[in-house]
Amino acid sequence: MLRSFFIALSTNAALRKFSESSSVGRRVSRRFVAGTTVAEAAAVAEALNHEGIAVTLDCLGESVLQVSQAEESAAAYQRTLFEIHARGLNANVSLKLTQMGMDIGGPGAGPALAERIVGELVAQAATDNNFVRIDMEGSQYTEATVQMTERLYAQYPGCVGTVLQAYLYRTEADMERLFAKGIRIRLCKGAYKEDADKAFPEKAHVDANYVKLMKRAVTSGVYCGIATHDEAIVDQLCRFVESGGTSKDAFEFQMLYGIRRDLQRKLVQQGYRVRVYVPFGTEWYPYFMRRLAERPANVLFLIKNFFRS
Ligand code: FDA
Repeated sequence: MLRSFFIALSTNAALRKFSESSSVGRRVSRRFVAGTTVAEAAAVAEALNHEGIAVTLDCLGESVLQVSQAEESAAAYQRTLFEIHARGLNANVSLKLTQMGMDIGGPGAGPALAERIVGELVAQAATDNNFVRIDMEGSQYTEATVQMTERLYAQYPGCVGTVLQAYLYRTEADMERLFAKGIRIRLCKGAYKEDADKAFPEKAHVDANYVKLMKRAVTSGVYCGIATHDEAIVDQLCRFVESGGTSKDAFEFQMLYGIRRDLQRKLVQQGYRVRVYVPFGTEWYPYFMRRLAERPANVLFLIKNFFRS
């Protein structure tokens, strides 16, 4: 119930505008967002790197409706890639296709615009020996995202990958399709509202599918990201490694900034690779609402902070 409620709120344009412009909203969002500028995000990335944690930087934004906004997003990512290179950070970038104009109608817009922008960013990353991860959004974008990743990978092998969501029935086939080409994936459970004809409605089934796909991913020979804070699943993978099922360098754990910092550090101490997803920027509202949807306790945190202000 709460999950659906917050996911529905995450797409409310009026609430988004109000929240992103309010000082209380900005303060509360800092629970999951590293700051508003590239410099702030780079400082967070540097600190994480010192602890042995790799980073992926997300310049927040999604569902843009004007070409100029998509071009601004592109410029923000160009600066971010430049900053990563200049500071020698152990970091790559994660971006969303709807941030790059995927939904905009008209000539020179839509998927063609998104592919041009992302292609230019992947080219920049390739020059720096870096990597662009295309995040996965709602299932209406899955096929287009997989196809675009395949085309860009053919041009820039090793420099682009995408995300697959364990809640979707189609993911097992998508995984095989991408692994056959050597394309790196991040496996997550999935953060959007999906109908039962596309996604497992029961959390227990999503978790079971996650474990099944995770074992396939870490034995595929293609380096992959295991993105979860689910300690039971993390433990299962650690036991799988200890029993010789795979090696620690076949994958990296990935977690979100501000969530389960204790677990991130424990895994690093145990010799696992860990990467933290660090979002930054002023357009934090939809990302923040999805984090509330994932864990009702976060709503209590929000309420407490609201009344403190
Ligand atoms: P689950 O939701 O079962 O939570 C397990 C435990 O983790 C909870 O009991 C709690 O302790 C902790 N936890 C989880 N979420 C929390 C939160 N918000 N606040 C506090 N604690 C929390 N999704 C997507 O659709 N497309 C994408 O591209 C990505 N990308 C992505 C990158 C990375 C690095 C991560 C970690 C996740 C994503 N996701 C995503 C989000 C993902 O789909 C999923 O919604 C969240 O990771 C929550 O699922 P868990 O696997 O953590 O398990």
